[in-house]
Amino acid sequence: MHKLIIQGGNPLRGEIKISGAKNAALPVLCAALLTSDTLKVQNLPDLNDVTTMLSLLKEMGTNISTNNHLDVELTATHLSKLVAPYEMVKTMRAAILVLGPMLARAGEATISLPGGCAIGMRPVDQHIKGLQAMGADIKIEHGYIHAVAKQLQGARIVMDMITVTGTENLMMAATLAKGTTVLENAAREPEVVDLANCLIAMGAKIHGAGSDIITIEGVNSLHSAEHRVMPDRIETGTFLVAAAASRGEIYLQGTQTNSLDAVLDKLSEAGASIESGNDWISLKMKATPKSVNIRTAPYPAFPTDMQAQFMSMNCVADGTAIITETIFENRLMHVQELKRMNANINVEGNTAIVHGILQLDGADVMATDLRASASLIIAGLVAQGETSIDRIYHLDRGYERIEEKLSQVGAQIKRTN
Ligand code: EPU
Repeated sequence: MHKLIIQGGNPLRGEIKISGAKNAALPVLCAALLTSDTLKVQNLPDLNDVTTMLSLLKEMGTNISTNNHLDVELTATHLSKLVAPYEMVKTMRAAILVLGPMLARAGEATISLPGGCAIGMRPVDQHIKGLQAMGADIKIEHGYIHAVAKQLQGARIVMDMITVTGTENLMMAATLAKGTTVLENAAREPEVVDLANCLIAMGAKIHGAGSDIITIEGVNSLHSAEHRVMPDRIETGTFLVAAAASRGEIYLQGTQTNSLDAVLDKLSEAGASIESGNDWISLKMKATPKSVNIRTAPYPAFPTDMQAQFMSMNCVADGTAIITETIFENRLMHVQELKRMNANINVEGNTAIVHGILQLDGADVMATDLRASASLIIAGLVAQGETSIDRIYHLDRGYERIEEKLSQVGAQIKRTN
């Protein structure tokens, strides 16, 4: 199994190019199922989750041609297999995103129930409730969701909680429904807007994406389009925090700063100087960061996907920080690993109290999920001595060539087998 070995203590200095966003790319790829024409997707990140999604779409009958690893053309002329099997869904929960488009286009879909995962239970009841409101007949048997609907009907759907992939699944399904669908309490994440832009380019009639009410007027069919995946705001945030924690200076290019307000506010509060333009952002951190309290919540509030990285920065900050995770019930797994590096953290329920110390100690640690892996890298970069991170397959699902990008800006980091 691969490990990452980090020698800590080097401030990050230099420039990094940001990749396309994983959480925008995955739903956009699924949108290809909604039409028999070709969808061209650009700026795809080279990640294991993207490869898994492409394999699933291929297995379902989508013809995929790749110009280079960043650009693909997907043509789903006939959907030959309307099944997303357990083997796929268990490795990547986002496979649930094929449910809405498959049902809307083919009138039928069978997909494995995702089950729980490392960060929480993560049920998909809202996806199911929404599709049922649109007239789908849904049965759950032997761990699979079987959905049938000759023709989905527009409906008013009030979601019980804000769900990103739930909103995306229902928005895709509604593009081909008969009549108008109104999604209330919809997710406002930038990735939802990116998907809406792709669907609109394909001929969908969608209003209000980016607000909590999205209205979709169903159309008879969608057509070919070209879409460029938005830059990854979480990758951007992760490198900014790594630079801030290591008291470095970093310039990130090819990113989008208007989707990062809550993260940038917290970095400024920690003492970082930040400048930005249309597609770049730079951060300089001269002194020890100050502790910053974090409370995760749906967009535009502070993202759960950045909580673990800020935890690592707070471990070596000046003061005490209170970090509250409100989205997932088990997303503080990195605490135990950070403690192995001598971090001073107490957990009570969904809250971690982090007392900053002068320096972490390098240690052998284990990644528990994708963003926890990123937090351990940041901890390793600022620790004294060597840190070895095991189970980095989580990392390869969501960060493109992270060790290469970090090496470029002075990190002592290498992958071993
Ligand atoms: N929830 C339900 N029922 C549902 C759907 C969600 O109870 O039917 C609950 C979840 O259990 C959770 C909360 O609602 O407690 C929010 O979950 P959400 O559905 O928004 O999460 P998701 O769509 O499964 C996406 C991202 C996650 C990110 C979350 C929150 C993708 C592919 N994944 O997940 O990304 O953390 O939104 O912003 O878009 C990551 O990239 O590391 C990652 C986990």
